[in-house]
Amino acid sequence: MHPITVYAHRGFSAVAPENTMVAFRKAAEAGAHGLELDVHFTRDDQIVVIHDETVKRTTDGKGKVRELTLEEIRRLDAGSWFDGEFRGEKIPLLSEVLELVADRGLSVNIELKNNKTAYPGLEEAVLEWIGRFGLVDRTVISSFNHYSLRKIRDLRPEVDAAILYMANLFEPWNYARNVGATSIHSYWPTTVEDMVKRSKEAGVPVRPFTVNQTKEMRRMIHLEVDAIITDKVDRLLKEIRDA
Ligand code: G3P
Ligand code: CA
Repeated sequence: MHPITVYAHRGFSAVAPENTMVAFRKAAEAGAHGLELDVHFTRDDQIVVIHDETVKRTTDGKGKVRELTLEEIRRLDAGSWFDGEFRGEKIPLLSEVLELVADRGLSVNIELKNNKTAYPGLEEAVLEWIGRFGLVDRTVISSFNHYSLRKIRDLRPEVDAAILYMANLFEPWNYARNVGATSIHSYWPTTVEDMVKRSKEAGVPVRPFTVNQTKEMRRMIHLEVDAIITDKVDRLLKEIRDA
């Protein structure tokens, strides 16, 4: 069986509030090989783990992440919106999640959310943290902002950098190389046999997102993609075992 890395999308977000420590711990306990997470800068340039530009959807607060200080962000409840049992969960710092990744021997997929908000210095700051935790070999940095990926690779050529995209990109393995990136994180409907085969021949790993339907999990396993990003860690691991 071709080995497939299972990345827990925003942690084990099917069972716990996305991008919180409980979701990341649950992913590790379920057997995920890696964690996917999203990062933004606070007003005082601290790297926090949250998906949206604002805190509205996933906390009891309001406002843009970029306009709130870390102290203000840390006062927010990031668990109750999902279920009362998670009341009191905080928006994590990137460093807290990296500590868990290092302790549990996991891989990490850090998505830079700098495609809508410009975060000058985010690339340098993220590289600094993965270096401090000794995680350079177990990290992939992904982004919809491909200029930012080029910057990552210019700064640290040994770091895996993955293009994120939604549309049907023409020959994405060539596009990734033009960017200076090393991997493809493709939207699952665009992840088709010819694309996977030719990317692999070009030596460019393919890791589709966000694969939550059993039928699509089976299709991706059959295509022998390199990794799959999912909310449903337990289901994907079972499908891989049964394949
Ligand atoms: O890693 C891919 C996926 O996370 C990108 O989309 O919106 O879930 O961050 P989104
Ligand atoms: Ca993401």
